[in-house]
Amino acid sequence: MKTVEIANYRDVRAALLNRNLKQALYDDGAVIMQGVLLDLHGKEHRDRRSIEHRVFRRDFMRYYEKELFPKVLEETLAPFLAAGSGDLVTFGYQVTMNLTADFAGIDRPYKTPEETASLLALVKKFSEGATLVHSTRDKDVVRAEVEEALVVFDTEFLQPSIARRQDALQQLAAGNIEEDDLPRDILTVLLRNQDQADLSPDLLRREIAFYLQAGSHSTANATVHALDDIFTWLAAHPEDSKAMNADPLFVQRCVHESLRLRPASPVAWRQPICPVDFGAGDVVDKGDRVVLDLSAANRDVAIYGPSAGTYDPHRVVPEGREPYGLTFGVGVHTCLGRDLDGGMMQKGDTDADNHQYGIVALLVWTLLQHGVQLDPDNPPREDRATERGNWASYPVLLNKVKR
Ligand code: HEM
Repeated sequence: MKTVEIANYRDVRAALLNRNLKQALYDDGAVIMQGVLLDLHGKEHRDRRSIEHRVFRRDFMRYYEKELFPKVLEETLAPFLAAGSGDLVTFGYQVTMNLTADFAGIDRPYKTPEETASLLALVKKFSEGATLVHSTRDKDVVRAEVEEALVVFDTEFLQPSIARRQDALQQLAAGNIEEDDLPRDILTVLLRNQDQADLSPDLLRREIAFYLQAGSHSTANATVHALDDIFTWLAAHPEDSKAMNADPLFVQRCVHESLRLRPASPVAWRQPICPVDFGAGDVVDKGDRVVLDLSAANRDVAIYGPSAGTYDPHRVVPEGREPYGLTFGVGVHTCLGRDLDGGMMQKGDTDADNHQYGIVALLVWTLLQHGVQLDPDNPPREDRATERGNWASYPVLLNKVKR
């Protein structure tokens, strides 16, 4: 087997768009990833994506950001504000667990911190299963743990959520409720289109478990990285403090710059389904592997200029290029959560009052509005269990609010 590594922006982008290359990162993680959207190719992938994409329509992203999410955010933030301090990593996971559960279609009937924590523990296990390829633990042991977590998830969360949605679908068929009264989530669209989607109970369980883990860690980590980069930037550029507290468009640009420099998945792997010629003698065939270095591509000086490797929220991004680089992927597997998390790209005439900023920018903006700052007595700690440069703990202070 030959492995070809690609690290420049243009070739990585072209490879992601090449339909003769299929997903290859998740073979080890089959326990959670086999047959889920990200693992599919060709017609099967197209059919499933077209069903699930209905949840991510633009009007709903906007509605979710402006109407639904602020309430989740307020509830999650309240105890941190009352304490006047907290850990950004904990906060990030709590808030994004709710976000992805809303989109996947998993109800949390009690809405207590304990319930969120129990769902989060299961989702962390799913994530460990999905990224088994990079695990340093005994893979069979991890697989057994993931199977066990799937069973608990099924009983405690999935089956009650399925029952509620099937009931709603029956009510709709009987004319007792309107289309708009249905929950708007992946589980509902899959149950409603069961004849087309044709998922076995096990596959449905994996699909929903995949959604829960696909969104939560990436969003939580992106939020912490974005604030860390902002603190560092402001320490060197105090002149930007005013804009940081008054201009949400500037804050969104800061978030995009962070997303570019710290992609949640630093690499994508692909496998050819037929011979593919990358030029310069690099021909790959079935059984070979193509490693796409998203992290390096996002720092390509040919696209983002000589300072591509450093953080600069004032960067002028060339027309037609993404301010967040290839962090959300491109092509058939483009992240379905991209606009939800990253928001819409800014244009010259973007109206700050009506813009969709994305959940990460909204989280960062809200925390800045509450005076978030590093806790001088408790420095952040890096997560040594991963090479992805994430934070294990990031203590911050906030303006204390009486409850
Ligand atoms: C900062 C946050 C996020 C980042 C950086 C991110 C990144 C990515 C990337 C790079 C891919 C493509 C992987 C590949 O081509 O092999 C992807 C796919 C996907 N992401 Fe995200 N993601 C984020 C948040 C989310 C959220 C919040 C959701 C759901 C609510 C989500 C759902 C998905 C799904 C369903 C796919 C598979 C799409 C397909 O295969 O057609 N992501 N994501």
